[in-house]
Amino acid sequence: MEKATPDQLVTDDDLVQTARDAMDNAYAPYSKFRVGAALVTRGGHIFTGANVENASYGLTICAERVAVFKSVSEGRQDIARIAIVSSSGEHTYPCGACRQVLNEFGKEIRVVVADGSGDVVNVPLSELLPHSFGRESLE
Ligand code: THU
Repeated sequence: MEKATPDQLVTDDDLVQTARDAMDNAYAPYSKFRVGAALVTRGGHIFTGANVENASYGLTICAERVAVFKSVSEGRQDIARIAIVSSSGEHTYPCGACRQVLNEFGKEIRVVVADGSGDVVNVPLSELLPHSFGRESLE
């Protein structure tokens, strides 16, 4: 059996709870749609994000991309899994732009979404973004 990687010690429920905590920091005065994200790297490092809106609406950034950019800019590209929750109480899947940004760091990243009742769905990014355009497309 292969040795467990540190990320495997973090359960989906743990990561969802961390995303819920991150959602408290959402800045969403326009949409009122608050989103929290938490990712874990294969090395076991955790980074969080919340959506940050702007009066110039197009400058808004999603929670998922905040988390990815924090991780990568801190030198951690080995993203294993990302959990996402929103104030809607429904399962909230990442938008197309965030799927593309996640894809840069691995088609096999697991995407974990939870609704308000704690029902958790875990899918590979490749299922959410099939036939993707990525680094290999440029080779
Ligand atoms: N939003 C996210 O943060 N992540 C998503 O996956 C979907 C949308 C944010 C952007 C905006 O602040 C609000 O939700 C409504 O679109």
